[in-house]
Amino acid sequence: MRILLINGPNLNLLGRREPSIYGNLSFEQYFTGLQAQFPAHELTYFQSNHEGAIIDKLHEVGFDWDGIVLNAGAYTHTSIAIADAIAAIETPVIEVHISNVHQREAFRHHSYLSPNCKGVIVGLGLQGYELGVRAIIGPEG
Ligand code: DQA
Repeated sequence: MRILLINGPNLNLLGRREPSIYGNLSFEQYFTGLQAQFPAHELTYFQSNHEGAIIDKLHEVGFDWDGIVLNAGAYTHTSIAIADAIAAIETPVIEVHISNVHQREAFRHHSYLSPNCKGVIVGLGLQGYELGVRAIIGPEG
């Protein structure tokens, strides 16, 4: 299967950004290990700090690829445009958050994206991305 992982704003700083919340591992390090776990599948990674670039990428892959694992960062809580893009495409999207957003500030409790996503994984650290990939591949994969 062809699966795209998308990280939104500030997630390029994983490993250095607020390590008590987001951990010490960079996403590049984590992603190399993740690819090795799924040798039969094509896992690709894209990160952008820009809302429009995330929307463009959703449009680009969203009619042909098998699944998208999306951590839209703070755009989760603000972006009707990303929510609309998820609704517009055919590829299923799994929403992931590294931290348990429900234990944090009230403004992080609402997601514009969740109603348009196939599923949501919250608060399980970087392992959430692996679980998102597994959700797309299914039990047979
Ligand atoms: C996050 C949670 C968001 O509230 C925050 O803005 C992020 C990261 C997470 O992965 O826990 O940038 O999506």
